Amino acid sequence: MLSTVERKIEQFIVELDDKEVSTLYSKLPHGKRLRAKLILKIAGSGLAVVKTAAIVEMIHAASLLHDDVIDDAYTRRAKPSLNALYGNKTAIMLGDILYSKGFLELNNISAEVAKIISNAVVQLSLGELKDVSLSKTFNLDKDIYLEMIYQKTASLMEASAGAAAVLAGKDKTAYMTYGRNLGIAFQMIDDLLDITTDASTLGKPALHDFVEGKTTLPYIYLYEVLDAQGQNRLKSLHAKVLNTEEQAWIVQQMQAHKIIEKSFFEAKVLVQEAIELMRNNGEEALTTIAMQMIDRKF
Ligand code: FPP
Ligand code: MG
Repeated sequence: MLSTVERKIEQFIVELDDKEVSTLYSKLPHGKRLRAKLILKIAGSGLAVVKTAAIVEMIHAASLLHDDVIDDAYTRRAKPSLNALYGNKTAIMLGDILYSKGFLELNNISAEVAKIISNAVVQLSLGELKDVSLSKTFNLDKDIYLEMIYQKTASLMEASAGAAAVLAGKDKTAYMTYGRNLGIAFQMIDDLLDITTDASTLGKPALHDFVEGKTTLPYIYLYEVLDAQGQNRLKSLHAKVLNTEEQAWIVQQMQAHKIIEKSFFEAKVLVQEAIELMRNNGEEALTTIAMQMIDRKF
């Protein structure tokens, strides 16, 4: 049960014995806890499983605290981000505290689980750096985009599923592929929502990614189908604050060329592949959680 994970995280925070950290943690919105759900679904609810799920969620929360500083994001899940409320220094340090406490606790699980999770954290840090570097360019290479979102987002889902399989005494290979596919699909949808969702629902302004310089999958696909004039226009708008007319042009072009449908389809195929793989392993119960990846509004 997810509440046992929540209680475990709270216990880890209490163990830090620091009032300020407890207060700051209480201000963080919890999110969907997808990674914890994945771990519990695969491995049940033994103590080591609950601890691993709590550790992964703490690492994930830490990465988002840092990400909001890096992205200059003042909202998270439709609420003010911690950096907006308390400033960058506090957000970075709370991230470091959650991250290092998570790593301390990881030592008590098993060497194999610790290796899987810590390798993913290396990957997600490399992925975030790649995201930052790529946003300084008008990247049109889909493979580079896919590698970046694998590292930034899918690596931790892949590791969550792999660690859970290890804890359950199962062969981790298929589970890791399942987690990887879900993670890539999750980030593709996240990038789509940045275009399709209005600011009040998503908790950040629409087209924020493009303004930040990120050419996510829909922009790569749009560029491919535009004529030379359209391509020049899209390029000229990259990494700029957009006025209403410019925003509307991008959205209209996406609609006219069915770019959102095309990108969504790609995410769906990955999820279907993941579901199929698990079915072949007798894991029907992992279908629902996979569907949740693509059926989300924010
Ligand atoms: C969200 O991407 C970002 C990530 C999933 C990874 C962030 C990783 C780091 C900051 C590396 C540091 C790691 C640790 C453990 C301290 P996004 O900006 O595309 O998504 P968003 O819409 O949720 O902001
Ligand atoms: Mg971000």
